[in-house]
Amino acid sequence: MNRSIFIRHTSIITLFSLGLLGVQGCSAKLYSPDDKLALETEAQTITQRFGGTLKPKLKAAIQSGGLVHAVDICAVEAPAIAKALSAETGWEVKRVSLQPRNIDTATPDEHERSTLAWFAEQQSTQGEAAVLKSSQIVNNTYRYMQAQPVEGVCLNCHGTNINPAVQSIINTTYPSDMATGYQLGQIRGAFSLAKSLE
Ligand code: HEC
Repeated sequence: MNRSIFIRHTSIITLFSLGLLGVQGCSAKLYSPDDKLALETEAQTITQRFGGTLKPKLKAAIQSGGLVHAVDICAVEAPAIAKALSAETGWEVKRVSLQPRNIDTATPDEHERSTLAWFAEQQSTQGEAAVLKSSQIVNNTYRYMQAQPVEGVCLNCHGTNINPAVQSIINTTYPSDMATGYQLGQIRGAFSLAKSLE
């Protein structure tokens, strides 16, 4: 007797839970911390592939053909890598900056702008601590951003007193360039990844 009451009770709970799941499934607006962590892990892997492909290419281009040649390589390779990764993974993959060089691809939207401003504030108040990142669900889209601080090699093309030949090719390729004048450690921009959850 007791047992059958217990069973009935259990099945009511089960039905109730399934009902709740159904509601969650339909609205598609609730994600468990585990879901979000899985998305973050995937985004980080793609980000590492982006940086891990681009930086060696940049360094090799500087070594083999000098800085002017490397500007050309960067202008072609960076958008190509972003495009290939987007096509392969189904994520939107790009780099953005508050002072973009490539205004066509790197101009931030509202979410990116506020995240970049937060990265810059963190960097200026706390210095270079851990990698700055942001993982959020905004309007049913998962958004991941990871800051790119300025290292020594970056100063060649994003610092002050840039070699005139390098400056000249930058001016020709990017007439609206805003990406110079940076100091070591400042946030140059960020990788920005998005995946629709609809
Ligand atoms: C040889 C010159 C050169 C060097 C060195 C260089 N960059 Fe750039 N950077 C460029 C060019 C050219 C672009 C524009 C690429 C494009 O059209 O997508 C760019 C674009 C970027 C962007 C994308 C946002 C934007 O403003 O268009 C980021 C972020 C960035 N660079 C970060 C760095 C960092 C960090 C380093 C050092 C690790 C670095 N760059 C070193 C030339 C360089």
